[in-house]
Amino acid sequence: MAAYYVTTPIYYVNDAPHLGHAYTTVAGDVLTRWHRQRGEDVWFLTGTDEHGQKIMRTADANGVTPQEWADKLVAEAWRPLWEHLEIANDDFIRTTEPRHTQRVQEFVQDLYDKGEIYKGSYTGPYCVGCEEFKSPGELLEGDLCPIHKRPVEWLEEDNYFFKLSEYGPRLLEFYENNPTFIQPASARNEVVQFVKSGLQDLSISRSSFDWGIPIPWDGKHVIYVWVDALLNYATAVGYGSDQEKFDRVWPADVHLVGKDILRFHAVIWPAMLMAQGLPLPGRVFANGWLMVGGEKMSKSNLTGISPRQLTEHFGVDAYRYYFLRAIPFGQDGSFSWEDFSARYTSELANDFGNLASRVAAMVGKYFDGKLPAPAAETPEISGALATAVTNADRAIGDDLDFAGGLAHIFDFVRKVNLYLSEQEPWKVAKDDSPEGRAKLATILYTAAEALRGVAVLLNPVMPATAEKLWVSLGAEEHLGPLAKQRIAEAGTWGRLPEGATVTKGEILFPRLES
Ligand code: MSP
Repeated sequence: MAAYYVTTPIYYVNDAPHLGHAYTTVAGDVLTRWHRQRGEDVWFLTGTDEHGQKIMRTADANGVTPQEWADKLVAEAWRPLWEHLEIANDDFIRTTEPRHTQRVQEFVQDLYDKGEIYKGSYTGPYCVGCEEFKSPGELLEGDLCPIHKRPVEWLEEDNYFFKLSEYGPRLLEFYENNPTFIQPASARNEVVQFVKSGLQDLSISRSSFDWGIPIPWDGKHVIYVWVDALLNYATAVGYGSDQEKFDRVWPADVHLVGKDILRFHAVIWPAMLMAQGLPLPGRVFANGWLMVGGEKMSKSNLTGISPRQLTEHFGVDAYRYYFLRAIPFGQDGSFSWEDFSARYTSELANDFGNLASRVAAMVGKYFDGKLPAPAAETPEISGALATAVTNADRAIGDDLDFAGGLAHIFDFVRKVNLYLSEQEPWKVAKDDSPEGRAKLATILYTAAEALRGVAVLLNPVMPATAEKLWVSLGAEEHLGPLAKQRIAEAGTWGRLPEGATVTKGEILFPRLES
């Protein structure tokens, strides 16, 4: 069986990353960590999109070559941020690497040889911000790009064209036979309508500038940056160079994309693959936008907030948690310091962090830090854990419903809190009789074992926090590394053994500085 292969968009290196870019990458990281914990063979790819006018102009404005600019941004901004956010990608592709450029040329040459590409001329609007040919009908106020709200440019160029218009019926048939190919449903409907309204052939080359991969049979043209960029998903996993790897990893199971780049992924990309007879990806999931003041957050609008501004205040794990918990995946959402602070305090610090520290403190105080064996079964908690695992696994692992999955996990955390406040172990502790001790042992074992399950479930989302909890429960010593724990086992009750050394580790979510 092919690997579970997840991709993020490859990001333009014209500027440094902001929250919107990190949103998709964190989602991909959580999804792939989840599947690794299911025990699957996983491949997670991210990277950078380095050709095209947008980058060329930025480099010019900064007095360096586009390659120098790209090298600098990748080294100083993009890679360090992913490391900072604990992104565990298996590869990082840059479209200026020979492993990519050579294969792109071969791909395009092949389509040319097959008669899929012809020479024509293009006249029409183009948005350099989107690097996209626009149709006059979609412009605002006559000449504004609907996404960038800035004037488009008029192109009149001889270009090479890909016969995209011929793929409409095959694409519609494919969508019909694969109803989950485009998600969420609103995105699917939009694409189906778009394709039904008739596809134009696609200009796949540009001749008015040279920062791109040359068209192999005509050096005066460079390959259109989107054709170059989409191919990264294939070239990065050995397309045309390492057949064994390509067979193991391709096709992608999930392409994560922002909704503004959905058509490229759900229309052009499958048509390109069809033209070559390659297997099509399993799913294209379009996430919504992070908004500021009702507009898409962006650096060019000066609304781009750097993730580091938030991680400095809330920490990396809370950052990874917040956006996935607060915004249903697929919808737009706004960010506010107030909402982030409120969720941090109530969900992470109070509900979860306090529970972990109270349980560890009580095992320390009443049982000298050695986990007691339970004297009775506690099906209301063990059953709830099993249900939370099943629900979270379906939501996060299958449906990419991160908010829903986290809600299941945190509902369970609240249930354990409720159990403790009902059982009142601090009162039971005053009863020295064998019955009292047995009851206290049951309560504390139940809470600690519940937390073991929570640590496994939260590991893909908040790896550093989950690890601290895992160690504090004495689980590492008896059950091995957290990363090796299977999601399915998270719900198997009774894995923490009697006598495990429970220690009060550091506070998981310290009080926020105001
Ligand atoms: N280079 C292309 C993608 C090529 S993929 C073969 C590109 N790059 S981008 O850097 O402009 O955008 C990358 C991704 O960031 C897109 O999916 C876009 O939707 C996402 N976001 C940019 N701003 C965003 C928000 N404010 N909110 C959420 N995602 C946003 O497009």
